[in-house]
Amino acid sequence: MFRITSLFIISLLYLSFAYQDDYSGYKVYQIVPNNEDELKTIQILIKHPQMDVWTSSKLIGHPTVFMVPPTIDYRLRSSLRVNNLPYDTLIEDVQSTVVNEKHEQAAARRIASKQNGLLTFKQYERFDTITWFLRNLTNLYPDIVQLINIGKSYEGRDLEVLKISSGGNEDKPAIFIDGGMHAREWISPATVLYIISQLVENYSENSALTDNIDWYIIPVINPDGYEYTHTMSRFWRKTRSVNLNTYCRGTDPNRNFDFHWNEVGASSDPCDEIFAGSDAFSERETDALSNFVLGVKQNIKLYLTFHSYGEYLLYPWGYTSALPHDFFELETVARRANAVANKRYTVGSSTNVLYSAAGGSDDWFKGVAGVNLSYTIELPGGGLSGFDLPPSRIDEVVQETFEMVKVFAGYIQEKFLYNRFLLH
Ligand SMILES: *[C@@H]1O[C@H](CO)[C@@H](O)[C@H](O)[C@H]1NC(C)=O
Ligand SMILES: *[C@@H]1O[C@H](CO)[C@@H](O)[C@H](O)[C@H]1NC(C)=O
Ligand SMILES: *[C@@H]1O[C@H](CO)[C@@H](O)[C@H](O)[C@H]1NC(C)=O
Ligand SMILES: [Zn+2]
Repeated sequence: MFRITSLFIISLLYLSFAYQDDYSGYKVYQIVPNNEDELKTIQILIKHPQMDVWTSSKLIGHPTVFMVPPTIDYRLRSSLRVNNLPYDTLIEDVQSTVVNEKHEQAAARRIASKQNGLLTFKQYERFDTITWFLRNLTNLYPDIVQLINIGKSYEGRDLEVLKISSGGNEDKPAIFIDGGMHAREWISPATVLYIISQLVENYSENSALTDNIDWYIIPVINPDGYEYTHTMSRFWRKTRSVNLNTYCRGTDPNRNFDFHWNEVGASSDPCDEIFAGSDAFSERETDALSNFVLGVKQNIKLYLTFHSYGEYLLYPWGYTSALPHDFFELETVARRANAVANKRYTVGSSTNVLYSAAGGSDDWFKGVAGVNLSYTIELPGGGLSGFDLPPSRIDEVVQETFEMVKVFAGYIQEKFLYNRFLLH
């Protein structure tokens, strides 16, 4: 009995080491298209199932960045040469970037441990710490926060929405915010946590925002994937659910929502990074989120979902290039928010600015839940890879983004509390 158990443990250990973070020989390339022809070639190129697209755009002059495994590297570079597409090699060996980032994280942890406060925003937090933070807030600020369990992730982690509400009125307009849908986009949960921290821990300075508006916030909607990027594979994107008849795991949660599901810009191949799932809402995480939202949708007036990277402020639709009938309002409010970021963000509809992608959460909020003001925010990238914004830059990004969130919230107050439409 003992022998069998230890053999079992040894083989488990072997497996976990064998799969850990092996990006040796993976490369990251960047192409910045100068004309329509180059754009078209890029659009075809990035459809290759083994390309992992990190950021991309349909606009001339905007970079497309992707990671390729060593197995297709040679063919890829020949095809770039044949097509006369100039490119830069951003990373020669992704594994060494990952190792460097681990050193940076360790240094950041040492700095963070010397600071006071629940979260310091000097490092990227693990899911357990994030859960503790939310639970601690409910003990420290029971009058304004409430933690609502909306279900469990595939691997059994609690999915919890923090409701922040300080006024007495039950019928206030509400804002729904989520982060961490794509596992590797670490700056997203950090940003959402900062928003929570400012609204709750800095309540005295921001009380107008919580007295007039209810907030529903979930910092990490894909916790299994998020943890996996911390422990096993830094550039994991999807959920961690098992798929039938294949070793490839996970679904892209942002292709899994039940609105024009899998029509365009999504894949039916479970090995693909943009796998739409076996069905709409096949994932526990997206299913739980949507069920919760449908229960409170009459109050939700604005949806913000944080991704990275590339500095884009996007509104629906992702499933069609047609613009929503109220695009002028969507565009105007986004431009106001962009002003506090010195207009660095590119504003537009997902399909026209980024790429077609059906089954995204922003389309579903607008198209099904009736939340007309619905935005995907692609936060700034950083470091060498784009995802590895160094911990020392978390502060700067989260603070600026909170200023943008205040602009969105200000508009919700104007429109729904004072019935003013100040679009000019
Ligand atoms: C939560 O509260 C406990 C008990 O006060 C404390 O030890 C812990 O550091 C706190 N953690 C976070 C992340 O808030
Ligand atoms: C609280 O909010 C005010 C106003 O937005 C800001 O100036 C201040 O830095 C915040 N305090 C903390 C501790 O973040
Ligand atoms: C959202 O847009 C629809 C379609 O124009 C409209 O009927 C509805 O009243 C709008 N909802 C809100 C809350 O403004
Ligand atoms: Zn994303």
